[in-house]
Amino acid sequence: MPAFGVPTLEDLPPLDGKRVLLRADFNVPMKDGRITDDLRIRAAVPTIEWLLGQGASVTACTHLGRPKGTVNPEYSVEPVRARLAELAPGVELLDNLRFDPGEEADDPAFAARLVEGFDVYVNDAFGASHRAHASIVGPPRTLPSAAGRLLQREVEVLLGVRERPLRPFVAILGGSKVSDKLGVIDALLGIADHLLVGGGMCFTFLAARGASVGSSLLEADQVDTCRGLLEQAEGRIHLPSDITALGPGGKLFEPGAGGDVRQMGTSIPDGWMGVDIGPGTAAEFGDVIAEARTVVWNGPMGVFEDPRFEAGTRTVAQAVADCGGFTVVGGGDSAAAAAQFGLAADIDHVSTGGGASLELLEQGDLPGLEALRRSGTGKAPNAE
Ligand code: 3PG
Ligand code: MG
Repeated sequence: MPAFGVPTLEDLPPLDGKRVLLRADFNVPMKDGRITDDLRIRAAVPTIEWLLGQGASVTACTHLGRPKGTVNPEYSVEPVRARLAELAPGVELLDNLRFDPGEEADDPAFAARLVEGFDVYVNDAFGASHRAHASIVGPPRTLPSAAGRLLQREVEVLLGVRERPLRPFVAILGGSKVSDKLGVIDALLGIADHLLVGGGMCFTFLAARGASVGSSLLEADQVDTCRGLLEQAEGRIHLPSDITALGPGGKLFEPGAGGDVRQMGTSIPDGWMGVDIGPGTAAEFGDVIAEARTVVWNGPMGVFEDPRFEAGTRTVAQAVADCGGFTVVGGGDSAAAAAQFGLAADIDHVSTGGGASLELLEQGDLPGLEALRRSGTGKAPNAE
């Protein structure tokens, strides 16, 4: 068994003729009913092929979006089912798990219905393993269970970074909400040599340093916490020294709507909204990243989906891609940014989990891993 103590595929009983329930995270981004990025489906294929190769039959299950316990055709898994049929013919896919309120409530009756007719459970849903939902923590209570290849690889990489990073270790955090990331910032301060902060969340930190942030995103109730983190960090938190801002009347994604775009220092006038790190900051961050031997990046530096505000994220993404150290990009928006700039192939590990990768870095464990560990699969009969 690997160091994190979770049973893996080799720990399962012989699978010939057995029926395997595979929990995957096929919560893929969609637009107008079409999948825009199938990474999460492709990432489960090695596990599926291994299971089929052992003579098992495989039924997959996933959530999609947040339908909140009611059947809603908007969240139909049909497009996923079609793509899965191309990538892994013969593998069935159950309905969206979150159509049933029992999934998010970890209802034992729902879990019992889910495992009916199956002999073995495999969790390859790294991106959902921070959720103590029925399909994640329920089946290991009753079925021989194991982590699939994707879950195993994600955990080995992220725990490796957490526990034995080559130094300097540089963490890059962005995204909009600082309140979502306080736990991980605190944890990263214990292990990272540098923490580069951009994205909407940087303005709450800048406000904590006394800057005026104009109309930028600000979580006023987090300013004191950010001030405390800055003190605790003793210079290891790097904040932007310049900002790209959108002037009064301007609208995101609507270049024609008016509103000037300007680079400025970190004192932002009333009516102006910081929407990207400035070029000076991007270059400074790039220099820190160039020296790193370990990089973890989660969250864009600005509103990169609007071409006027992609420069900061692009420069940072390029620096991560060029870095000679071991580079990890957390799922979600930063993975999408790396893909948009054509840089994903130059990153050592693009995680399929956003929230899950942050929680694993923060806590060193996830509910889905604990459940597999408790299943007892793979332990010698008399082992503890
Ligand atoms: C994700 O995309 O973050 C995972 O699939 C988990 O989804 P959730 O945040 O809706 O629980
Ligand atoms: Mg999420």
